[in-house]
Amino acid sequence: MLGLEISELKHEEIDELRHMQALVWQDHFLKERGQEVPLLYRSRKNIESYMTKKGGFCFVARIDRRIIGSIICHTWGSVGWFGPFEVLPEYQNRGIGKELVNYAMNFLNESRCSTTGLETMAGSSKNIAFYTKYGFKPKKLSYVLFKDLETRNGHSDSSLVARKIGQEDIPRLRPAWGKIERGLDYSAEILATEDHELGEMWEFDDGTGFPNHLILHTYELIDGSMNTILKLLVAEKEETALAMLTWCEVRTQDLGKKGMFLRYYQGTGLDLKDLLNQGYVLNGALVRMQMLGEGEDTELAHISCWSG
Ligand SMILES: CC(C)(COP(=O)(O)OP(=O)(O)OC[C@H]1O[C@@H](n2cnc3c(N)ncnc32)[C@H](O)[C@@H]1OP(=O)(O)O)[C@@H](O)C(=O)NCCC(=O)NCCS
Repeated sequence: MLGLEISELKHEEIDELRHMQALVWQDHFLKERGQEVPLLYRSRKNIESYMTKKGGFCFVARIDRRIIGSIICHTWGSVGWFGPFEVLPEYQNRGIGKELVNYAMNFLNESRCSTTGLETMAGSSKNIAFYTKYGFKPKKLSYVLFKDLETRNGHSDSSLVARKIGQEDIPRLRPAWGKIERGLDYSAEILATEDHELGEMWEFDDGTGFPNHLILHTYELIDGSMNTILKLLVAEKEETALAMLTWCEVRTQDLGKKGMFLRYYQGTGLDLKDLLNQGYVLNGALVRMQMLGEGEDTELAHISCWSG
């Protein structure tokens, strides 16, 4: 498109980006679901953490210096993913989305990622057609789950011993990540959580010697949000994972938050039925679309958020 320029997001453009993203999603909810929602702003902290995350990149598309689209890339070892990804409604269907995906995929390929892709709304025919035409292949579903914790009286499972972890623990945790997907390395998430004070990281001893661990994001991803987000949970046994979830729910309540979000991917050793029985409600379904890599299943009980 004439006059289109794509380059890295500048620090002084963060608020303009947040406004552009809020307009896109307000329009999306109205068109796709008939829902009128207020402008929901990603927090500055969220964008700043993306900008400086190890192996990450924020690209923006501009016309006449105005931001009209953006795409954010993440690399977790040899896994390269993109999202959030938006184009302003009045500029959609003019090829700008494709230009941004080209940019992101070039970046991920140059970063030598052997697993690449994204997650998109399973009910969006436009998005699924768009990515399929580009060459991405649909894999399993990823469910957005939410638990309302305002009314719940939880109790922590006392058989788990929790201790705080940080970047010094990365070498010990890395082998567990590699069992989820070959070459997967979440150190960028550990570092970002620590550097930007996004939340808490804990390890749980269930007597097996496996380093069961989690990242609980307690910061406001969306301005004014009163919920926590379980960014990552890795456990060897489902029973331990469910006890860790209960532990996070109690922690969320202790912090005065109202609920907890998590993303559940089908190819893991956790059963969705057990999460629903634990009081989680289904908020939406995403489909994982991959360019490179097969999308391996894992026996580990694993929860992680691969979309922005
Ligand atoms: C998804 C999004 C970023 C795509 O950006 P875009 O600039 O519209 O994308 P492009 O113009 O490059 O391509 C859109 C393609 O979808 C096609 N398309 C549009 N509506 C369609 C539909 N209902 N079914 C099938 N194809 C459709 C267009 O014809 C075009 O294909 P073509 O290039 O072969 O003609 C943009 O629509 C958006 O911001 N949506 C809201 C937020 C969102 O969904 N983000 C992505 C989350 S993963």
